Amino acid sequence: MISKCIFPVAGYGTRFLPATKSQPKEMLPIVNKPLVQYGVEEAMEAGLTDIGFVTGRGKRAIADHFDISYELEHQIQGTGKEAYLDTIREVIDKCTFTYTRQNEMKGLGHAILTAKKMVGEQAFGVILADDLCICEEDEGVMAQMVRLYKQFRCSIVAVMEVPSDEIYRYGVIAGESIKDDLYRVSDMVEKPEPKDAPSNLAIIGRYILTPDIFEIIERTPPGANGEMQITDALLTQAREGAVMAYKFHGKRFDCGSVDGFVEATNYVYEHSYKKNGK
Ligand code: G1P
Repeated sequence: MISKCIFPVAGYGTRFLPATKSQPKEMLPIVNKPLVQYGVEEAMEAGLTDIGFVTGRGKRAIADHFDISYELEHQIQGTGKEAYLDTIREVIDKCTFTYTRQNEMKGLGHAILTAKKMVGEQAFGVILADDLCICEEDEGVMAQMVRLYKQFRCSIVAVMEVPSDEIYRYGVIAGESIKDDLYRVSDMVEKPEPKDAPSNLAIIGRYILTPDIFEIIERTPPGANGEMQITDALLTQAREGAVMAYKFHGKRFDCGSVDGFVEATNYVYEHSYKKNGK
């Protein structure tokens, strides 16, 4: 029913320079796996196997990662090292990958609009790979959201509570509680001052969007930082129809910041790599 997931990956990753000078930030590893692979695995687990990257200059390593490397595979064939490729082989076998270029950096709304042709007329997922989500007790966050989409058939954003001194970094919602962990959005503000924030519920990088969002983005004027904001388009959609905000189950690491990246690395090392070796 939903099969497509869009990954906006055109950003420069300036906070990780010089590491990101000649490689995409999405390829930085959390232990032994590039950040973007975690996101694609989460999409795949949710049944979203048509992966669309909105990419930019200097991002070729992403396309190479989600492809066979004949030379390497030939070299390690029949050795114990083959098992290191198991996770990426599974992703390559189950998913298809499409790439389009965002040739100007005009915000997340613009990145999503760039995927219009790739998406067509279906609802679709959006994953910001910088936000690494891990859920040990339930399905992955995107799978949790797909479950809700089947019930409500409208756009859904994932939210979490954040302290007020961090709220300025996020899109923030206000909403009426519908049931446990689910709100119907009544207001949404991109990167508010703490005093203007409508709540402490911040949007994190997981969205399910219905395809009418494209036409709404097209008629939405630039917002915060002069960029096309998906948050502003979603507010229009909430007012004209409905948008849900879902307080997801699981942990989220802000891997766009050095602190969050290190925290994620320690967590994955302790909870996954040390136990399973992958
Ligand atoms: C984007 C969105 C923002 C959201 C955030 C989640 O901001 O515009 O609404 O809260 O992702 O990570 P960015 O982090 O790209 O500035």
